[in-house]
Amino acid sequence: MDSRSYRSKFFWGVQDMVAFQASLDGLIAAAAVKQGWFAADNLIAFGRNLGFLNDERFIKAWDTHAKAGHERGVMWRTANVVWAARQALRREGDFVECGCYKGTSARILMDSVDLGPRRYFLYDLFEHDASMNHNAMPEHGAGLFEATKVRFAAFPNVRVIKGPVPESFSQGLPEKIAFAHIDMNNAPAEIGALDAIEDRLVPGAVIVLDDFGALPYRAQHIAETEWFAKRGIPVMELPTSQGLAIW
Ligand SMILES: C[S@@+](CC[C@H](N)C(=O)[O-])C[C@H]1O[C@@H](n2cnc3c(N)ncnc32)[C@H](O)[C@@H]1O
Repeated sequence: MDSRSYRSKFFWGVQDMVAFQASLDGLIAAAAVKQGWFAADNLIAFGRNLGFLNDERFIKAWDTHAKAGHERGVMWRTANVVWAARQALRREGDFVECGCYKGTSARILMDSVDLGPRRYFLYDLFEHDASMNHNAMPEHGAGLFEATKVRFAAFPNVRVIKGPVPESFSQGLPEKIAFAHIDMNNAPAEIGALDAIEDRLVPGAVIVLDDFGALPYRAQHIAETEWFAKRGIPVMELPTSQGLAIW
């Protein structure tokens, strides 16, 4: 593949990764178009411009902060989050991320975009036990909240808040929101977040619903499609599996 392409081994739902990658080699070999391939994160495309590969600021930030395989695999999704942030800067209001985990996409955003005085609120449980209705992540645990705060220590405009969304909004929630990245893989919490921020979203606010298009999270897709439809707003299902809505 050429320098205008991107390939990673991060795909989910694959039974035999060796056979899958060999088939991908076969696809590339069989195609007349050798440029502009993207193969990662359950998305295979070719003959694309992939403009984010030429976005030097984003690529530097992504290279610095996306270290784990899945973090590198979701490169196109992360580029879309950065696009959403840049678009949101055209509106008045602060930024929120519901489900920040280790803060990787938020950290890439911070290095890719000049937020100026705007605030960025990051929410997560940071822990998991069997009683909790969300996916366990490898670094969930007692130290993750502190480690995430340290990751953003250089940014006085970033607040990291621990607890279940939407209840944790009582610890702080901007009055005006221009950007909301919702990524909890948890349909009730995501709808709870949308209900709670609805009156604070400014006209033109950008909302990115991670995993909106991912089949394992179909409950989110159904609930969020209905939630936005009631408000007359269509959600665009992106090939990356994100949903994009403009308020
Ligand atoms: C896929 S991870 C987020 C990844 C992150 N957005 C990124 O791009 O790097 C999902 C996170 O949602 C969090 N989560 C799930 N339900 C939650 C809830 N009700 N309140 C707060 N966080 C929640 C989990 O703890 C987990 O860390």
